[in-house]
Amino acid sequence: QRSGPLSGRHVLVTAGPTHEPIDPVRYLANRSSGRQGYAIAAALAALGARVTLVSGPTALPSPPGLATVRVETARQMMTAVEQALPADAAVCCAAVADWRPETVAENKTKKDGKGPQPLKLVENPDILASLSAAGDLRPALVVGFAAETETVAAHAKAKLARKGCDWIVANDVSPATGIMGGTENAVQIITANGIESWERMGKDAVARRLADRIAAALGGGSGA
Ligand code: C5P
Repeated sequence: QRSGPLSGRHVLVTAGPTHEPIDPVRYLANRSSGRQGYAIAAALAALGARVTLVSGPTALPSPPGLATVRVETARQMMTAVEQALPADAAVCCAAVADWRPETVAENKTKKDGKGPQPLKLVENPDILASLSAAGDLRPALVVGFAAETETVAAHAKAKLARKGCDWIVANDVSPATGIMGGTENAVQIITANGIESWERMGKDAVARRLADRIAAALGGGSGA
């Protein structure tokens, strides 16, 4: 661990998509690459934090100098997050699947001439909302993300209240922006004090600026 404004602090970061199995070979997923979350984890470690990165399936190597816990499903991510507590701050960057198939077929489902069977979905646990309501175990600072394709700021404000977190980092993931899966991000930071828009920049730069902010909020670092 490096020394820095976050020395002695433990920060939890979730990143990547989750995979929700349908049967042994099929799953539901989304286009999250994990890049923004991995960059945030690395930036926090660079400021001296002890970082636990809980990651869904990604093609990215585990960042050096921090603990990466790899999981597949939302429920596994929830368990890994609970096991990583206590933490001084949590950054929930993962694109957690909202729903999972109610049952997972033991064997690969086959075409049986009767046409496709409907897929019954049930809701996954909300990791950000549970962390925000974790009582004594609630991290002092809980940061959520909002990937939206329309009226980004309005949705993000509502999300701040609904999830009970302290900040929402909102981004527009409409296909035309190239943000989801890409290397750049354009974010808005929503807090109880209002909304701030950051210019479009690399995901690494967003991560460094956010890490500085987190250090300042936890009572160290230069902040921005
Ligand atoms: O509700 P929505 O999925 O848009 O909220 C996004 C935020 O909530 C992100 O910070 C994401 O990591 C978090 N989330 C979560 N668990 C879920 C769904 C979303 O932690 N099941």
